[in-house]
Order: sequence, then structure tokens, then C-alpha cells
Amino acid sequence: MKIQIINGPNLNLLGIREPEIYGFASFEDYLQELVLHFSDVEFHYFQSNVEGEIINKIHETGFSFDGIILNAGAYTHTSIAIHDAIKGVITPVIEVHISNVHARESFRHHSLIAGVCKGVIAGFGLDSYRLAVEALTQQAKTTAGMHFKLSQG
Ligand code: DQA
Repeated sequence: MKIQIINGPNLNLLGIREPEIYGFASFEDYLQELVLHFSDVEFHYFQSNVEGEIINKIHETGFSFDGIILNAGAYTHTSIAIHDAIKGVITPVIEVHISNVHARESFRHHSLIAGVCKGVIAGFGLDSYRLAVEALTQQAKTTAGMHFKLSQG
């Protein structure tokens, strides 16, 4: 199973940026834990502060990967272009947030991408990403089971 993780603007500063909200770990360190935990998942990681680069990565992986885990950072609340990119691909996208955006400023309460994502996970710290991987792997198992049942008649 191939999963693309995409982190948007300012998430390169994880571990340094507002640690009281986002924690002290860098994403690279956390990713190593994920890779060890899910040994049968092939992880690809991409971070960019540039909206168009995030869109390009969604296009690049959105027809061949099994899942995309997207933390679009502040673009979550502003980007119609990322909304359209998610809508334009086949691969299911899960929106994740480290913080509970609904418990923060009101401008973070609305997501322009949630409606075109498979689901949303927010507020569990970096563990939000693990929960998203669990959701994707579980969905893949359920779909495989359904195909098996169908092929058995
Ligand atoms: C965030 C929440 C966003 O509102 C914010 O702009 C971020 C990080 C999160 O992971 O909690 O950059 O996506």
C-alpha cells in the first residue's frame, strides 16, 4: 500500500513553531516511527510552503497511490485551488490537523477542503497522522474483502 503524506505551509517548522500547540517533535522524527509501525505501507513524504507545489503533488500521486494524508496548514481555510485538486483526483484524501482547529480562532473553524476529502482527523497531535493511516489501511482491507465476496458470488 502506497501512502503520500503532504504537509503544507509552516509545517517544516514542527518542533520549533509554537510548541505549546504543535509539540516538540520534528515531522521527520515522527515519520520514522510511522514507518516502523506500519511495515507494509510504503510512505512518501512531501512538504511545501507553496500552494501550487501542493497541488502538483496531489496531481502526481492522486491517480496511482492508495491514499493521501494532507495537512494543508492554513491553506485548509483559504484554498479553492486545493479543493479543486482533491476533487480532480481518484485517490482518497484524508484531511489532518495536529491541533483541534475547532477549539481555536474562528477563522480556523471552516475548511474549504473537508467536503472533498474522505474524512477529517484533527486534534490528536502528531498522532492524527497515525489515525489517518489506520483509516486508510482499514478502508483498503474492507474494500479488498468486498471484492473477494463479490468475486465469490
Ligand atoms: C494546522 C491548523 C491550521 O489552522 C494551521 O494554519 C496550521 C496547522 C494543524 O495541523 O493543526 O498551519 O493545520
